[in-house]
Amino acid sequence: MIDRENAILLEFKDLFGSSEGVGMAQAPGRVNIIGEHTDYNEGLVLPIAIARNTIAAFRANDSRTVTVRSMTLEETGSFSLDDEAMPGEPSWLVYAAGVARALQDAEVPVVGCDLVVDSTVPLGGGLSSSAAFEVAVGLALTAAAGREIDRKDLMWACHRAESEYVGMRCGIMDQYVALFAEEGKAVLLDCRTADHKLVPCPTDMVKFVVCDTAVRHELANSEYNRRREECEQGVEQAARILRAKPVRALRDLDPGDLSELQQELDPVIFRRVRHVVTENARVKEAVNALRDRNYVSMGVLMDASHDSLRDDYGVSSPELDTMVELAWSQRGVYGSRMTGGGFGGCTITLIDSGRVDEFCKNMALGYQERTGETPSIYVCSPEDGARIVHPMPD
Ligand code: GLA
Repeated sequence: MIDRENAILLEFKDLFGSSEGVGMAQAPGRVNIIGEHTDYNEGLVLPIAIARNTIAAFRANDSRTVTVRSMTLEETGSFSLDDEAMPGEPSWLVYAAGVARALQDAEVPVVGCDLVVDSTVPLGGGLSSSAAFEVAVGLALTAAAGREIDRKDLMWACHRAESEYVGMRCGIMDQYVALFAEEGKAVLLDCRTADHKLVPCPTDMVKFVVCDTAVRHELANSEYNRRREECEQGVEQAARILRAKPVRALRDLDPGDLSELQQELDPVIFRRVRHVVTENARVKEAVNALRDRNYVSMGVLMDASHDSLRDDYGVSSPELDTMVELAWSQRGVYGSRMTGGGFGGCTITLIDSGRVDEFCKNMALGYQERTGETPSIYVCSPEDGARIVHPMPD
């Protein structure tokens, strides 16, 4: 960590003359244990923050310009805080400009500053690299202005940056967990109330292992937004069919409503709805299973979540299915599923601690044999959320 921080400071000095008075903000990536595509349906999710993170080194520069260096992409870009339009190039700059704009929209003062950003969250890999970037930059921008911002206000600003300025109509899970996660705990987030409970997450007897398919699908954003539209249609149609029941979001439907809906809903819309309704129910059961340390039940729920995402929601991919099936055939595995938005990215597997080494070896070999790709594999335990790691001296 010290080496990484020093490398960031060195880069800062090279680019901006000195590293005096530089602060650092850090925000983690996340992996979702269960509750996929439920957040924008006002439902429940159960993610953890992971040990991969984004660090944004920052210093105010007495101007109205924000300059951002991405060490990961080896590119630098600038935008003016007074410009109406979002910057065009480099394309990733919109994530930073979007956060600055969303903070300004919320009347949070932002000042010109210089930033050097470095990330160990694999880009576009389903571990929420964009939310980690947004939250690290958001914390940096507010700290550079000498302010401390309420975490929920920052969460909404980062969410707005992504959904409005980047154009990915995501839910709040990723930005929320990056800000509210705690070591050793999973975050049970209710996306209707935007409140959470922490659920102790065992790390002794079992582990969560993330396997990256190494596939980044272009489809992800457009198909994601399409799923959202399908859910909106589902809400409209279900409200018409179940007249007696107020349906504001798919969250308001219960498994008991499904048989009536099946007869009248468009078949594709019905499958989308069924995924969301059953997935919400699975999150509730998963919380009990985790609390009871009932890993067999937990595994069954994770497997069922994968089946539902593949068959009903249509967001898996051949590579994700291959990775999950390979995991299902390993010793010591309780359950495995795709995690995140889908169409590529990662899987999450719950496994006996004693089998982890063998699992990692077999997965790497097996996946390579089947696809020719070498997967990255991470053993995860729940980490803390975002923080200032190296405060600016007064
Ligand atoms: C992406 C989005 C999240 C969530 C997941 C699917 O990660 O950013 O808001 O919708 O997909 O659960």
